[in-house]
Amino acid sequence: MDNKIYFDNASTTSLLPEVTQKMMEVLQHHYGNPSSIHAYGRKSRSLIEDARKKVAKSLNVSIGEIFFTSSATEANNTILKRSIIDLNVTHIVSSPTEHHCIIHTIDSIKTEFPHVKITMLDVDRHGRLNYDQLDNLLTHSEAKTLVSLMYGNNEIGTIHDMSLIAQICQRHGALYHCDAVQMVGKYTIDLQKSPLAFLTGTAHKFHGPKGSAFFYMNGDNIIHPFIYGGAQERNMRAGTENVAGIVGLAEALTTAMEKMQERYDYVSKLKTHFESGIYALGKDCFLNNPTDTPSMYHITSVSFADSPTVDMLMFNLDIAGIAASSGSACSAGIEEDSHVLLAIGHPAERKTIRFSFSSYNTLEEVNIVIDKLRTLLH
Ligand SMILES: Cc1ncc(COP(=O)(O)O)c(C=O)c1O
Repeated sequence: MDNKIYFDNASTTSLLPEVTQKMMEVLQHHYGNPSSIHAYGRKSRSLIEDARKKVAKSLNVSIGEIFFTSSATEANNTILKRSIIDLNVTHIVSSPTEHHCIIHTIDSIKTEFPHVKITMLDVDRHGRLNYDQLDNLLTHSEAKTLVSLMYGNNEIGTIHDMSLIAQICQRHGALYHCDAVQMVGKYTIDLQKSPLAFLTGTAHKFHGPKGSAFFYMNGDNIIHPFIYGGAQERNMRAGTENVAGIVGLAEALTTAMEKMQERYDYVSKLKTHFESGIYALGKDCFLNNPTDTPSMYHITSVSFADSPTVDMLMFNLDIAGIAASSGSACSAGIEEDSHVLLAIGHPAERKTIRFSFSSYNTLEEVNIVIDKLRTLLH
């Protein structure tokens, strides 16, 4: 993909070369089934347990609290549904800006478990929560409650206060599930400081492979498997493990932890430079991501006033070899704002584009994209 610019890193990221190398080694040489007791199997098992150790260390938790899955989507489904069945949860509190794997799971809970009450919290125009609302809600709820709130929003970059939510939930005896997919490997997450019941992460957001994810489950709140089969993952997640994927996840996470500050400093500069460049274009635009409170350092979500040129912007950026992401969903041929943009009250007549960066991007690329936007938005 020479001469192309990839500004869609919140969607997925490229594989780190050292991750590819480790995974290739596993695929070629360590193909034993981790459940087999012979040497081939034992080698695969030890690779998985070594990976688990690395993930546990990154979150400051015990190795027995980490479980590998095929995706964060699977992990989030497991946690929401099995909490109802195994932990007698009868009230789920969430927010309308969660990822579809939460929103659609909650939709299915409404029909599969009609006795479970669902409360969606309010968000402001930058997707921020009102923590007093959560506190009040839990103060007046007797029900066994699971609070499922993401850490960082994948569309507009808004960061929720994970440690405050953890404190509020703890105070009221509610279980807290945090979809931390966009934050794992980018921000420090210390679960000794912010104790919660469940947390999910996925490798492909931090330069690991797709189809490899994990969840943390606090030892006090044991749920059972979502799908039935073998006794893999200590009876928590049936199905032969994706050994290469798990090794790739741990390798990518280890590098992300080592380079966290360096990447933060570098990518933050790209984002700041990009945002000032966008404003300097003098077009009618604003940022959906918060600017007066921290938002994730790799996401810029720009709302442009509608015009024929803005209408064609995504298409023309793509033609120019620039990958970004539109904040719209196409249903029956009509483009509509995504559920997140709808939830924050984004004006329907405007168009949002999300640009998301990684440490593989450069200032030169940022300048090229700004120049291209200047030409396209004439
Ligand atoms: C916040 C958030 N949660 C969950 C997911 C789903 O992750 P996966 O692709 O591993 O299912 C994503 C991916 O876009 C995400 O951004």
